[in-house]
Amino acid sequence: MNEEAWTIGRLLSWTADFFGERKIDQPRLAAEVLLAQVLQCQRIELYTRFEEVVSEDMRTEFRGLIKRHAVGEPVAYLVGHREFYSLNFKVNPHVLIPRPETETLVSELLDRLPAKGDKVDWQVCDVGTGSGAIAVCVAKYLPQATVTAIDISSQALTVAQENAQRHGVTERIHFTLGDLLSPVAGQRFDAIVSNPPYISPTELEQVAKSVKDFEPQVALVGAGADGGQTTRQLIDQAADALKPGGWLLFETSPMLAPSLKGYLEQQTQWSQSGVVKDTAGLPRVVWARRQLA
Ligand SMILES: C[S@@+](CC[C@H](N)C(=O)[O-])C[C@H]1O[C@@H](n2cnc3c(N)ncnc32)[C@H](O)[C@@H]1O
Repeated sequence: MNEEAWTIGRLLSWTADFFGERKIDQPRLAAEVLLAQVLQCQRIELYTRFEEVVSEDMRTEFRGLIKRHAVGEPVAYLVGHREFYSLNFKVNPHVLIPRPETETLVSELLDRLPAKGDKVDWQVCDVGTGSGAIAVCVAKYLPQATVTAIDISSQALTVAQENAQRHGVTERIHFTLGDLLSPVAGQRFDAIVSNPPYISPTELEQVAKSVKDFEPQVALVGAGADGGQTTRQLIDQAADALKPGGWLLFETSPMLAPSLKGYLEQQTQWSQSGVVKDTAGLPRVVWARRQLA
C-alpha cells in the first residue's frame, strides 16, 4: 500500500484543521510557528518546502508540541520567544507574553521623548518589566536613554536581563528587584512607564485558559476588587519620582481607564492627563504629565 507521505504541506493542513476543530486561535499560524520551531527554520521558509517529507523524529517532536498547544499552552512559551515592537524577545512561563496592546504604550512613550534635540539623555523607569519588552525597546530606540527596570519577580528579571543582552542594551538598563517604585526612592525620572497587573480576580475566571493556566498570576492580577489598586499605588508613588514636566504612562484595561484618569485628575500634581486607544480601538493607555513646578 502506498501511504501518503507526511510532507510539510500536509502536516500544516492537518494541524491547522486539528487546532481549528478545537477552536484554537489562529490555527494555521500556530501550526506554522510550531513546525518551523521543530525544523529550526524561519516560518516563511516552510512555503518553499511544502513537498519536503518530514522525518519520523521530527514528527514525534511536532506531535508533542501540538498536544501541549491543544490543551492551551501558548505558542510563545512552546517556542521560547515572541516578537514585540519588531524585536524578538525570549519568554518563559515566569514572564507575561508581550502583547500588541503594549506596543501602543511604547509608541506613546517614544513620542514624548524625542530621540533628537537638546535633551536626549532621558532617564526612564519601567515598573513591572517582566520580559523587559518595554525597557529594552526604550533603550534600543532611544540610544542615549538610561532605563531602570523594576520587577517584583527575580525570575522575570533574569529573563529581562537576557533580553537586554540579546539586543545589546545591558549597559543602559539597571535591573532592580522590588515593589513598584520603592527600590528607587529619592530618584527622579523623565518618564515612568508601566504595564502593571490589572485584571480583577473575577475577570481572571473569564480569561482564556491559555492565559489563566499558563501565564504568571503576579503579572495578571492587580490588587483590589477591581484589579486597579496596584495602578493607583503606582500613581500615588509616581508624582514624587518624576522630574517637573515628567511623564507617567501606563497600560490598563478598557474598564479601568476612565476611573484611573479620574483618579489622576483628583490629584493636584498632574497638569494634564489623557487616554489613548489601542489598535483595536479600546481605551488602553493612560498618561499624565507632572506639574512643571
Ligand atoms: C502585565 S506584566 C508586564 C510585563 C511587561 N512589562 C510587558 O508589558 O510585557 C506585569 C509585571 O509586573 C510585575 N509586578 C507585579 N506586581 C508588581 C509590584 N508590586 N512591583 C513590581 N513589579 C510587579 C510582574 O512580575 C510582571 O512581570
